Amino acid sequence: MSGMADDIRFVLWLLLLLRGSSSCSGSDLDVQCLRTLQRSVIDPNGILKSSWIFDNTSAAGFICRFTGVECWHPDENRVLSLHLSNLGLEGQFPQGLKNCTSMSGLDLSSNNFSGPIPSDISLQMPFLTSLDLSYNSFLGEIPLLIYNITYLNTLNLQHNQLSGQIPPQFSLLGRLEAFNVADNQLSGAIPFSPQRFPPSNFAGNQGLYCCAGRSKQRGRSKQRINDESSIGAAAGFVVGFVVAFYFPHLFVFSQGLHPYVFRV
Ligand SMILES: *[C@@H]1O[C@H](CO)[C@@H](O)[C@H](O)[C@H]1NC(C)=O
Ligand SMILES: *[C@@H]1O[C@H](CO)[C@@H](O)[C@H](O)[C@H]1NC(C)=O
Ligand SMILES: *[C@@H]1O[C@H](CO)[C@@H](O)[C@H](O)[C@H]1NC(C)=O
Ligand SMILES: *[C@@H]1O[C@H](CO)[C@@H](O)[C@H](O)[C@H]1NC(C)=O
Repeated sequence: MSGMADDIRFVLWLLLLLRGSSSCSGSDLDVQCLRTLQRSVIDPNGILKSSWIFDNTSAAGFICRFTGVECWHPDENRVLSLHLSNLGLEGQFPQGLKNCTSMSGLDLSSNNFSGPIPSDISLQMPFLTSLDLSYNSFLGEIPLLIYNITYLNTLNLQHNQLSGQIPPQFSLLGRLEAFNVADNQLSGAIPFSPQRFPPSNFAGNQGLYCCAGRSKQRGRSKQRINDESSIGAAAGFVVGFVVAFYFPHLFVFSQGLHPYVFRV
């Protein structure tokens, strides 16, 4: 498993190396990213305030010594991942992350973030392999476009206040090795086969059920429900038609229906 993650990381590294060589300002953008992030979050314990000091920008890789910042190389201001777990941070989802153009991991778990997860998160961080937003108070729906964060290995959204469905398109996330949405307010079908992730990763929601078109048992009973409901609909139509044909006076708007009924 970790072997595969290493492979992916290597491919990403090559991709990003190529990107990086074509734009010299890459690392300035990473500095800008962290500045914007620091300004956009509420930091009651002053952890980012005291550690993320932007005074001496002449030191190579100075951001790599900041709390929670991991760089691709210690002497280069290029963020590999951010580990900002359990720092008491508050406010909305951080801003500026789009400028951390080489970032492959984001961990905001166990803080007090609130509000929605941005719907364009996949455009902000298209190379994420790991996203951990667990144990916050994120609200609203899981963004559909997470499904095209192509290299995503780990998605942890446990213990937030997320509602709506798990987007069916998540079944396209072929590299997912870990997925957890326990303790939210989600409902609807789980878009993965039952063996793929443990049931506890889906526990504590309103109405998640397993699994969309995967389990044969469920598939059969769904099919039957569909058959029954289409038979029901057809029967309803026939009965309605017969009633309308023979007893048009029963209709409140019978006046309007007459010409139609008789033409048939
Ligand atoms: C800034 O960083 C450079 C390189 O590491 C160092 O030589 C210099 O003393 C630092 N200046 C301050 C004010 O910290
Ligand atoms: C986070 O929010 C919870 C509930 O609102 C509160 O009890 C807790 O003290 C907050 N934690 C911090 C570090 O502010
Ligand atoms: C990224 O950095 C550029 C240049 O500093 C800035 O103009 C832009 O607003 C930043 N984008 C975000 C999303 O913060
Ligand atoms: C994600 O999917 C949307 C809709 O299919 C598409 O427009 C967009 O270009 C995709 N983005 C990436 C980064 O693949």
